[in-house]
Order: sequence, then C-alpha cells, then structure tokens
Amino acid sequence: MNIIKTENYDEMSNMAANKIIEMVRTNPKATIGLATGSTPKGVYKKLIEDHKANGTTYKQATTVNLDEYVGISRNDPHSYHFFMREQLFSHIDIPLEQTYIPDGMAKDLQLECSRFESVIQDLDGVDLQLLGIGHNGHIGFNEPGTSFESRTHVVTLAESTRKANARFFPSIEDVPARAITMGIATIMESKEIILLASGSSKAEAIARLVNGEVNENFPASVLKLHKNVTIIADKDALQFI
Ligand code: F6R
Repeated sequence: MNIIKTENYDEMSNMAANKIIEMVRTNPKATIGLATGSTPKGVYKKLIEDHKANGTTYKQATTVNLDEYVGISRNDPHSYHFFMREQLFSHIDIPLEQTYIPDGMAKDLQLECSRFESVIQDLDGVDLQLLGIGHNGHIGFNEPGTSFESRTHVVTLAESTRKANARFFPSIEDVPARAITMGIATIMESKEIILLASGSSKAEAIARLVNGEVNENFPASVLKLHKNVTIIADKDALQFI
C-alpha cells in the first residue's frame, strides 16, 4: 500500500480529486467507484470546481456507489442517492443513467444485490474506487466478520456504525438497521483503490490497517492483498504511523 500524508483535509481532497480528474481525462469512459459519508465531500467539491473552471467532462464516464440504506427512498434527503445528487451529480455533466447506486427500496433485495453485481461485471469492473474507513475498519458497509469472498449483499449495520451515522439523522432510532453494500471481493476487483482518512478520530483505524494483520475482523485489512492501493490521509489520521 502506498501512503500519502497530507497537511490537512483540503490537501487530501485535492489529491484524490486530481487522481479522478486525471483518470477521466485519460480514459473518458472510466468507471469510478464512489463513497458517501463526510470524508469524500471535499473531493466532490473539488471535482465540481474543476468541472466548472476547466470543463472536465463526465459525459461518457460511469459511476458506481458502494452502498445504500435499506428502506429509504431515493428522494429522502438521508438516502445516498440524494447525497450523491446533492454533493456531485447535479453539478457535473454526468448523465444520471450512468450513475449506479444499489436500490434500498427494491422489493426483492437479493435480486437487487445480484443486479448490482452484474452491473459492475458488465462494466468490466471499477477502474478507480474511492473508499472511506469506519472506526471499526468497515469499508463500504462491510462490517467486521464479513467474508473476504463476499459479493454485493444486504448487511445489518453494527451499532457503532449506526451511532456514527446518527449525526445525519434526527436521532439514532431513525438510522436504518440494514443496508446494501458492495461486497469485499467486489471491492477487491477494482483496478485501483484510494482510501481516504482525515482527522484524529480515524488514527486508530489507520494504524490498525497499516500495522495490523490481515483479518476478517478488520475488513479494511484486506486491502493489503491488493496490488494498487493508495491511502491518502492527513497528518492527524496518520499520527500513529
Ligand atoms: C460510505 C461508506 C462508509 C464510509 C465510512 C466512513 O459510502 O462506504 O464505509 O466511508 O463509514 O464514513 P465517514 O467518511 O463519514 O467518516
């Protein structure tokens, strides 16, 4: 794993955005894997700024997102569909039909997981996948104990994850109990992965990722088995490295 240490959140966001911009400029039909949560917001802001200032186009690009809550409609402000439209898609020129996010309202969730998995296979995999990391080492919503062989599946969110995400909802009771997530094996098939981390609250997770062993109890540790992973993190997140 390569590790890039940045001075702060802004520099981390800039570096990751530049990698995405470079990717779509050299390969306009690239498939970019996206994450939600607080960490990538700065990256999306930079992509929008660059699109407006320099005209980088996403007309031929495709995006796939890591996850979505079960039981929340795409127009609900708490959904990841809504988040992605607000934070990125509505401000760049990507056609919405080229943006794929699991449908947490699907009647048959298993079928939806297979459909999403086929979308990724049909696209010939993800060229560049952006990841955040949970305090417990989750990537996507693959919580500790998830098999490294897993494909897109329905998960029950860990209590700690629901607590961490309660900040986006009126109260913790409103945080859905389940989500659909890209599986670990699916994530590992991405040709290139960038994991972002910012702030001291992520320092222990990053230290465990970098110094710990590869173990299903710490999902992000699987990334050590991937050939092309870059951690871009600010100095607070890297304070124990
Ligand atoms: C979100 C996702 C999660 C987040 C993680 C960190 O799509 O896949 O794994 O990346 O929970 O979230 P933040 O960035 O809010 O600290």
